[in-house]
Amino acid sequence: MATVIVAGGATGIGRACVGLFRERGDNVVLIDHRPEAQAVADESGKGECLFLQRDLADPAVPKEAVALAVERFGGVDTLLITAALMVSSALEDWTNEMWDRTVALNLKMPFFFTQAAAPYLKASANPSIVFTSSTGAIKGHAGMSAYQPPRRPCRGWRVV
Ligand SMILES: NC(=O)c1ccc[n+]([C@@H]2O[C@H](COP(=O)([O-])OP(=O)(O)OC[C@H]3O[C@@H](n4cnc5c(N)ncnc54)[C@H](O)[C@@H]3O)[C@@H](O)[C@H]2O)c1
Repeated sequence: MATVIVAGGATGIGRACVGLFRERGDNVVLIDHRPEAQAVADESGKGECLFLQRDLADPAVPKEAVALAVERFGGVDTLLITAALMVSSALEDWTNEMWDRTVALNLKMPFFFTQAAAPYLKASANPSIVFTSSTGAIKGHAGMSAYQPPRRPCRGWRVV
């Protein structure tokens, strides 16, 4: 049985993973800004699920979510980050706000979640961090200037 943090799970990949984790008995802390995620947390499962309704672009959220996982479940074994923002716009229409919000969610949030969870992951017998990515990591898409991660993974990264 593991303790899992899922950042973004009202819908899509995160939602499906919450169900699978709980089915095998893992406890989950689910963070999402959409209130519909409460229904995901309320679904039955062997493991528990706590829902924290937060905007993940808020830099205070990673520490808060990790503290909740530690307080309620005793640690963190798995960090799954699926929340992201994909803005597509003509070059001339891009604003600072569009860039800043994308960077806050897609770049800073996974980093600071990892930083907050790191002491507990180091203490776990079976730690893992999973970041969902995009074909945009390999090939650029027109209009999505802020969404594209570095073209090549950094040394030590493993793309699965
Ligand atoms: N599904 C695909 O085909 C696909 C393809 C390429 C990349 N991706 C990437 O994989 C990830 C997951 O994809 P998905 O299809 O499950 O997406 P999704 O939109 O269904 O799920 C993302 C979840 O993150 C939540 N979220 C978004 N912004 C948030 C915020 N600011 N604060 C809190 N929660 C927030 C949403 O409410 C949602 O529940 C995304 O990062 C996406 O960019 C998906």
